[in-house]
Amino acid sequence: MNDKLKQIVAEASKVFILTDENVAPFWLPETEYWLGCKNAVEIVIKPGEKHKTLQTVQRIWKTLMRHYADRNALLVNLGGGVITDLGGFAASTYKRGIKFINVPTTLLGMVDAAIGGKTGIDFGGAKNQIGTFAEAEEVIIDPFFLETLPTRELLSGLSEMLKYGFVADAKLLETSIENYQDYVLRAGEIKRGIVAQDPYEAGFRKILNFGHTLGHAIESHCLTTDYPLLHGEAVALGMAGALWLSVKQCGLDEQVLKDFEEKLPMLLSEAEISLSEVDIEPILGYLVHDKKNKGEKPQFVLLEAVGKPVWDVEVEPERVKMALQYVIKLSCQ
Ligand SMILES: NC(=O)c1ccc[n+]([C@@H]2O[C@H](COP(=O)([O-])OP(=O)(O)OC[C@H]3O[C@@H](n4cnc5c(N)ncnc54)[C@H](O)[C@@H]3O)[C@@H](O)[C@H]2O)c1
Repeated sequence: MNDKLKQIVAEASKVFILTDENVAPFWLPETEYWLGCKNAVEIVIKPGEKHKTLQTVQRIWKTLMRHYADRNALLVNLGGGVITDLGGFAASTYKRGIKFINVPTTLLGMVDAAIGGKTGIDFGGAKNQIGTFAEAEEVIIDPFFLETLPTRELLSGLSEMLKYGFVADAKLLETSIENYQDYVLRAGEIKRGIVAQDPYEAGFRKILNFGHTLGHAIESHCLTTDYPLLHGEAVALGMAGALWLSVKQCGLDEQVLKDFEEKLPMLLSEAEISLSEVDIEPILGYLVHDKKNKGEKPQFVLLEAVGKPVWDVEVEPERVKMALQYVIKLSCQ
C-alpha cells in the first residue's frame, strides 16, 4: 500500500467498502486485509447496469447514515465501472461530499471508468443522466484483480484500450488478449492526460468518445433485444463505423480500417450478435436522441489519421445510415 493511501485510510473516521455480489467473494476479504480495515462496513449490492440507479444510491446513503458516517468517512469503491460510477456519485453527494477511492476490478474500469472524475447513475431509462464531476482521492490499479474476470468482460475492456490507440498513441493498437497487461498503465495514463487538459469536456476530452456515438446507439438498441451487448463490444462496432466514416469524410488511410476489420472478430468472439437491416431504423432513433448532439444531427469523433482525431463532426444522415449498414454487415461475418 502506498504512503498516500495509508494516510487516507488512517485519517478516515470510518471506512466503508462498496462492492457487488460477484466481486465480493473473490476480493472483499483481500481488500479489507491489504487496506488494514478489518472493521470496514461492507455494502454489497447486486451486480449489473440495471442496479446503477437512484434506489441503490439511496441504499448506500442510508447505510452511511445508519453507521454515523461523518464528513471524514471514506468510501472504497471495489468493482467495475458500475460500482465506481455509483460509489463516486453517492460519496460526492453525501453530506456535500466525502472522500472516496476507486479500486477497479474490471479492465474497463482500470483503463477508463475509474479514472477521470465522472460519476453517475442511470435515470428515466437513459444511461448516466444524473451525475457529478468528482475526483477519487486515489485510484488503485492492479491487474491481479483481472484473474477472476470473465473473458467476455476482458474483451470489452480491450476495445476501450484500442480506442486510445486510435485517438492518442498508436502503440496501444498492439494490445491483444495475450499482452494487454503490458498496456494497462499506459492506457490509464493517456486517459488522465486527456482529462487533465479538459476536465469538464468542453472540447478536447470528447476524443474519448471515439466509437461511442454509434456504439451507444447500438448498445441501447441491443439492450431491448434478446442479444444485449457489453459496452466495449458495442464500442468496437461503433469504432468500425467511425473508421469507415473517417475514410469517407476525413481522408483516413483505408488500411487502418482494414486492420481493425481483422481485429473485430476477436473483440466480439464471446458476444452473441443478431443485427440485421431491420435494426437500422431503431438504432438511428437512438442516435438522434444522443445527449451529446447539438441539434438533430449526430456529432462524431472521427480520425484524419491515427492519433489525429477531430470532434464535433456532423455527418449527413444518409451517410450515417451507410456506416451503420457497413457495421451490420461486418457484425454478421
Ligand atoms: N465514469 C466514466 O468515465 C465511465 C467510463 C466508461 C464506462 N463507465 C461506466 O462503466 C460501466 C461499465 O463498467 P464495467 O464494464 O466494468 O461493468 P460492471 O461494473 O458491470 O462489471 C462487469 C461485470 O464483471 C463483474 N466483475 C467485476 N470485477 C470482477 C472480477 N474481478 N472478477 C469477477 N467478476 C467481476 C461485475 O460484477 C459485473 O457482473 C457502465 O455503467 C459505464 O457507463 C463509466
